[in-house]
Amino acid sequence: MAVQVNFEKCATGGLCAESRCDVGVEKEEIMRTKELVNLRKWFRHYIRQFAQNGNRMHPLLQLKTRHSERVAKEARALASDLGWSPGYRNAAEALGLLHDTGRFSQFAEHRTFADTMSFDHGECGWTITRKIAPLSCLPRAERKRILDGIRYHNRRVIPDTIAPRHRAFLNLIRDADKLDIFRVTLESVERNGFQDLPDMLPDITLDRAPSPAIIQELYRRQTCSLRKVKSLGDFFVMQLSWIYDCTTPRLASASWNAGFFREYLV
Ligand SMILES: [Fe+2]
Repeated sequence: MAVQVNFEKCATGGLCAESRCDVGVEKEEIMRTKELVNLRKWFRHYIRQFAQNGNRMHPLLQLKTRHSERVAKEARALASDLGWSPGYRNAAEALGLLHDTGRFSQFAEHRTFADTMSFDHGECGWTITRKIAPLSCLPRAERKRILDGIRYHNRRVIPDTIAPRHRAFLNLIRDADKLDIFRVTLESVERNGFQDLPDMLPDITLDRAPSPAIIQELYRRQTCSLRKVKSLGDFFVMQLSWIYDCTTPRLASASWNAGFFREYLV
C-alpha cells in the first residue's frame, strides 16, 4: 500500500509534501520489532565503550545519549503523523537513535561537538553504521535511505544527489532532530543560561546579542549557517531560521513557537 500523506503547505513555503509522502510501496515489513530491539541493544553496547570513570560517560555524552533517545521518539511520532506503516515507524525510530552515532567518537577524540573543529559527524556516523548487523537485514534500498539519513542529517542543504523520492527519511530525521534541539535549548537556557554551550561548541560565547551577520542571513529567508554562529543570541536566531527548512507541521509549529526566543535576546 502506498503511503498517503496530506498536509497543507506551510505559510513560509517550508513544507515539501512531495518529498515527505512517498516512502514507497511496502511489499514487506521493512523493520520488524525484533530487529528494532536488536538495534537498540547494538546502540547501548556501542556507546558503552565511551564510559570512563566509574562506568559513567562524560555529562555531555550522557546528554547526547538522551538526545538520541528523544529524537528516536520524535521520529516515530512524525512517522506516525505521516501515516507510515509499522515497519517504517520502526525504521524511523532506528534512524532517530542512530543519527548522532558519530558524536561519540567526535567528542572522545576532539572534546567538541563542532564539526568545523573536528570532522563531519554525519559522515562519521555513516561510516560506523553502514556495516552493522541490525541494519544489514533490511532491504537494500531501505537500508540506504536510513544510512543517507544518518550521513546527511546535519547538512545545511540536502545534496542534489539525493533523489526527491528518497528524501522522506532524511526530511524526517532533520525535523525530529530540530524538535529536540529546541527543547534542549529552552531547558538549558531556563536552567542556567545554557552554560554548557561553550563546552559543546567552544567558539560560541554566552553573549545574547545576535551579530549583524546572522541577522543578515535571516533576512535572506534561509537557514543560518552554524559556521556564522558566534554567540548564544546567534544560536537563537539560527533556530528561528529553521522555519525555512521544516517539512512537517509539527516542526513548523515548534519553529513558530520558538519565536519566544526573542525574550532571551538583548
Ligand atoms: Fe547531529
